[in-house]
Amino acid sequence: MMIPPKYKYELIGGYFDDAKKYVLEDPNQAIIVLDEKGRIAYFNNTFLRHQGLQRKDVEGRFIDDVYVGGRMLKVLKSGIPEKGYVFMVNGRHFIASSYPIILNNRIIGVIGRSIFLETEDAIEFVKMMNKFEEELNATKEKVRKQDELFSGFDKLIGNNPDFLRIKDLAQTVANTDSTILITGESGTGKDLFAKAIHYSSKRKVNNFIRINCAAIPEQLLESELFGYNEGTFTGALKGGKKGKIELADKGTIFLDEIGEMPLSMQAKLLVFLQEKEIEPLGSQFSQPRKIDVRVIAATNQDLEKRIAEGHFRQDLYFRLNVIKLSLPPLRKRKDDIALLTGELFKKINRRLETSINSIEPEAINLFYDYDWLGNVRELENFIEKTIVVASMEGYTSIKAEHILKLINKQTLIPTAYLEVETSSQAGCNLPTMKTYLNLCEKRLIREALKDMKGDKSAVAKALDIHISALYKKINKYGLNKEESRSP
Ligand SMILES: Nc1ncnc2c1ncn2[C@@H]1O[C@H](COP(=O)(O)OP(=O)(O)OP(=O)(O)O)[C@@H](O)[C@H]1O
Ligand SMILES: [Mg+2]
Repeated sequence: MMIPPKYKYELIGGYFDDAKKYVLEDPNQAIIVLDEKGRIAYFNNTFLRHQGLQRKDVEGRFIDDVYVGGRMLKVLKSGIPEKGYVFMVNGRHFIASSYPIILNNRIIGVIGRSIFLETEDAIEFVKMMNKFEEELNATKEKVRKQDELFSGFDKLIGNNPDFLRIKDLAQTVANTDSTILITGESGTGKDLFAKAIHYSSKRKVNNFIRINCAAIPEQLLESELFGYNEGTFTGALKGGKKGKIELADKGTIFLDEIGEMPLSMQAKLLVFLQEKEIEPLGSQFSQPRKIDVRVIAATNQDLEKRIAEGHFRQDLYFRLNVIKLSLPPLRKRKDDIALLTGELFKKINRRLETSINSIEPEAINLFYDYDWLGNVRELENFIEKTIVVASMEGYTSIKAEHILKLINKQTLIPTAYLEVETSSQAGCNLPTMKTYLNLCEKRLIREALKDMKGDKSAVAKALDIHISALYKKINKYGLNKEESRSP
């Protein structure tokens, strides 16, 4: 292949007879190598030219006899590279880096290289970096604004004094690094609080990583949290895998459903919380790594009861319970029902793109009679159902009759799914939304297991859920007991 003339290098006097020499004799980079005693073992012509030295001044000399070679000698001693320091020789500045040369775990020398031979080049570089930094900051700011839009504290609706007190506390501690424990029944907003805290803190430009401690099988949880190195176990990914804690470095790790964490993992988590270091599985040769992560844990369980029953470590509880946010159930903040209904109604309406434009006060009044055991989530789901029903019937506003229809019409619930007694709510004998959905789910999984002759991977695939989630649900609904009972 012909090389166009403009890409041909001028080889001076045939001196550069191969590529290796060309690299070593790069006219733009000064190179110097010291042996283990600090003697100059190699230098290139650029080094001589730039420093105004003659070959005889340098060859075989100790570095200190030529000029003050402090940085290189330091690297020779410590084995730790020194990068990008400013260096002055004969009144001229340049920027250099020095790296140790290590053979069989022994430092046998140091190589020093100029990064910028001319100060003007360095100034250009700094200007460019400043421009990049400005661009990066502008992007971070944009991301922050977007995140705040989606996950700020303003997403947390409620004026109930207890709720506001907790929201205030969360806002106050958001920008500290204190560990937070969020407790509250299902659907009270634990996830929402955790996100609001992260996205209102200085950590918001880094990751918010959530891990559901209940959904991951015990034997996988450790590698999920702490990661593993290549070849640790059969099936391990090439190059290993970073754990969630490491992914959350400089950000926040949200340990959801912490109450379900197996005791063996609780011990390991406690060590992490004390040391703030991780040692991925199979890493007997590597050093533990310091991690700067903010921990938020959440549970809908009574952890003190779990401790008394021997399922949760008290020492871990103390570590997590630095700041406690106990979210009240909706039945204890019924004064927020109208506000929540109004906001959730707008949100769902936007998402569903329906043309329902209001919800009548008489309809909202009906909501006060219920205990909402599934809390805000149940209210949200219920409002969604009423919007669907009203818009299917061609209405533009939700009326009390729509609510009553959903509450009173037994037929809305496929009786086939109602195989356990429904939990009766004030004045009606319907199940809560959660009970209802659980029943549907249980029935679906049971049928799928039957269809696929108990092949759980096939069932997980068919239902498009993770196998670990399937196992969890099988346990939750006691389907494993049914399985072992069937012939
Ligand atoms: N104060 C609130 N304002 C607005 N929406 C809320 C509020 N609390 C909860 N929600 C909504 O209710 C639903 C459930 O909230 P979230 O997932 O945070 O609850 P949770 O406590 O984590 O529940 P679980 O224990 O089941 O995980 C979400 O859709 C959330 O947007
Ligand atoms: Mg949650």
